Amino acid sequence: MRLIGTFCALAILVQSVVAFPSFLHNRDIDLSHLSREIDSVLARVPAEHLAKLRRDASLQKRSTFSESQLIDVSGVHAYAPPTAGQTRGPCPGLNVLANHGYFDRSGVVTFTQSVSALTSVLNLGIDTAIALVTYSIAIIGDPIALTWSIGGSYPSSIPLILPRPGGIDASHNNYESDASVTRGDSYLHNGDVWSVQLATFKKLYALQDGPDADYTKDVLIQHRKNTFDYSVQNNPHFFFAPFSGLVVATAAHNFVAYFFANHSAEKPEGYLDQKNLKSFFGITGDTIDTLVYNYGTERIPDNWYKAPNPYSLVDVVTEILESIQANPEVGAIGGNTGTVNSFVGVNLGDLTGGVINSQNLLQGNNIFCFAWAAARAGLPTALSGVTSLLGNVLNLLDTKLAPYLPALACPAIDEFNLSLFNQFPGYTQH
Ligand code: HEM
Repeated sequence: MRLIGTFCALAILVQSVVAFPSFLHNRDIDLSHLSREIDSVLARVPAEHLAKLRRDASLQKRSTFSESQLIDVSGVHAYAPPTAGQTRGPCPGLNVLANHGYFDRSGVVTFTQSVSALTSVLNLGIDTAIALVTYSIAIIGDPIALTWSIGGSYPSSIPLILPRPGGIDASHNNYESDASVTRGDSYLHNGDVWSVQLATFKKLYALQDGPDADYTKDVLIQHRKNTFDYSVQNNPHFFFAPFSGLVVATAAHNFVAYFFANHSAEKPEGYLDQKNLKSFFGITGDTIDTLVYNYGTERIPDNWYKAPNPYSLVDVVTEILESIQANPEVGAIGGNTGTVNSFVGVNLGDLTGGVINSQNLLQGNNIFCFAWAAARAGLPTALSGVTSLLGNVLNLLDTKLAPYLPALACPAIDEFNLSLFNQFPGYTQH
């Protein structure tokens, strides 16, 4: 039995499908800078936030309201779309922060700036923010300069040692996934995984109608089923990886309802109407037939109040489980085998030597335990030792955040048969 941090299970799960950048083989990179940055961010976290995490609280939508939830979109935080040389990517949450100057408008951000903006402007939990940002730096960023890109690649701080960081755009199957909320599948769109596909946006938009339209969690759970089914039915190379698919892409559906809703005094529980939905996705137009998407134009609406409660990793996982419970098919891991409608879900028991199976995946903490095992098993031998950079980054995260997260007692999973993924042509597509 081993205690692990929740964040770690989420963050590490990705590695079962990662094509690791070569710099991760460099064992000499000093992480003390990252360690100090994390300490300094954690030191600024309000005590009540940490208490919430310690209590293992989940999102209890208290309908509290405070005028301080209003997000400033004026002055230095006025909206401006990216100019030449500034990058945006597949995540509208990150794009709006850059378009309003809460992130550096270039789209390349530091560890501290990104954690600070994500928590203060969008109310992402500090644990979620640190886990996602640190993971970004480790797999598609610059672990020396502690920077990462929300879109395309950018110059490395030490080009002779670290290759050019790829940015989120280059993270297909690692962070970025097929069956996204609005972005297209890599195989279907020649690798363009960052642009909104208007047809997909319209399917979401059409799930609600009229002046009372409200894109609630239930609506997004329905959309999650639709996006998954669409990829099965249309993408012969559809691959739904453990972390990028099951965790990141599914969480992103839930994020729409939670984060983009306006938590104003009139509707403190949150309300996401058509106007604000369009704004966050860079869409204009009044009727469904006249909608237009413009790359990089995601915008925080005027008079928009962020959610009152920080969204912790416990919330991430709780809402993923709700989505799977509503539509069990989206809890599968697998893909199409080269033709449409050929989806094969791998047998979790075969993957894990029987320790985790489809019957017990959703019980207790098993989804975390599975995540942990998938991740560790996916590490190439050269990286699995504690001396590798990625291993060290993840161990550092575990140590820093463990006190604030629910501990998990996981069954030992000694084998993990990743060769089961070889039947999916999309598995090796990056
Ligand atoms: C460090 C923090 C974050 C990282 C690294 C991150 C990364 C990503 C990635 C890699 C995707 C692509 C997933 C896919 O292919 O389906 C994505 C999508 C998305 N993210 Fe984020 N994200 C972060 C924070 C947020 C926040 C705070 C929000 C909400 C305010 C958000 C909202 C979304 C949404 C709605 C999508 C779906 C985009 C679409 O398919 O149209 N993200 N994010």
